[in-house]
Amino acid sequence: MTETFQFKLLATDGKARRGEVSMPRGTIRTPAFMPVGTVGTVKAMYLDQVRDLGADIILGNTYHLMLRPGPERVARLGGLHELIRWPHPILTDSGGFQVMSLAGLRKLDEKGVTFKSHVDGALHHMSPERSIEIQGLLDSDIQMQLDECVALPASPKEIERAMEMSLRWAERCKTAFGDQPGKAMFGIVQGGDIPHLRVRSAQALAELNLKGYAIGGLAVGEPQEVMLDMIDTTVPHMPTEKPRYLMGVGTPDDMLKSVARGIDMFDCVMPTRSGRHGLAFTRRGRINLRNARHAEDMRPLDEESTCPAARDYSRAYLHHLIRANESLGGMLLTWNNLSYYQDLMAGIRTAIEEGRFADFMAETQENWARGDL
Ligand code: GUN
Repeated sequence: MTETFQFKLLATDGKARRGEVSMPRGTIRTPAFMPVGTVGTVKAMYLDQVRDLGADIILGNTYHLMLRPGPERVARLGGLHELIRWPHPILTDSGGFQVMSLAGLRKLDEKGVTFKSHVDGALHHMSPERSIEIQGLLDSDIQMQLDECVALPASPKEIERAMEMSLRWAERCKTAFGDQPGKAMFGIVQGGDIPHLRVRSAQALAELNLKGYAIGGLAVGEPQEVMLDMIDTTVPHMPTEKPRYLMGVGTPDDMLKSVARGIDMFDCVMPTRSGRHGLAFTRRGRINLRNARHAEDMRPLDEESTCPAARDYSRAYLHHLIRANESLGGMLLTWNNLSYYQDLMAGIRTAIEEGRFADFMAETQENWARGDL
């Protein structure tokens, strides 16, 4: 652990990177997958379990936590770590993205966003400065700039306007964040699916000399190929000596292909949300436990897994739990999925250290394609 926020590159293999992001609350081994803990809980999991699976950091959402229980209250209660009993690093998203997808959006302009709460319909305003203030009240270790993410497809004019405004918001967030040696504020590259806008955004953010950089505005409806093209376009303009975070991504395949392109950090609701809906990620690909073919299948999801949910429970039972809408079904599949995601990242890290990432990626993909039956 360190007093200051630092990124160390430990090994590279092609464009894939093995690193460590250190801060007073702990060290994140990268490439890292960050489980999503939107409202101060990784849904259907005890945080002790999340930790035991190998998570070094979890995510929280400014938008949700500002509405309930409220940032000032969280601060009075000792901060988010204390409240939820997670003493390790927490990254908070800034709120802009969630406002777009969840709130009744009222107005978005240079000053910020005005929106209607999905909880009680009340009107709220969030400026770049208020987003950083809230993330500070939560005591978040890695804070994200407020940005505007446009859903694709969108017109080039619209994409450019949102990207340029997000750049101005990055500067305001940097000023609001000030000098906090043990914490970081990351900028977010926008620019939709237009290469020169991505380059402009990455270069302008790099000049702000922030402690880390994210790529936003992807996995918002575009094909995987477009997403990968945008990563290829953007990464060369992101500083080598800073962590690179691909927001809201993704599937295990998205993550392998993104690590191969130089990404260090990921977050996604996929393992948790799809687990609650009956989908299991395994070494042999995806298994939809809702499907009737599992009704009398006494095999576990993966007898070689280190996760009890994958190893000790039959598919027949998981099928029954999911069909009966029992909370244990979602709990077991979330556990399995987060275990799979963390094991995949651990495998990726070791492979990079040993200079065999390309082989690891090919073998992993072959196993998915082989299927499980
Ligand atoms: N999560 C996924 N994509 C994005 C994005 O573009 N911006 C923010 N703030 N969060 C995200």
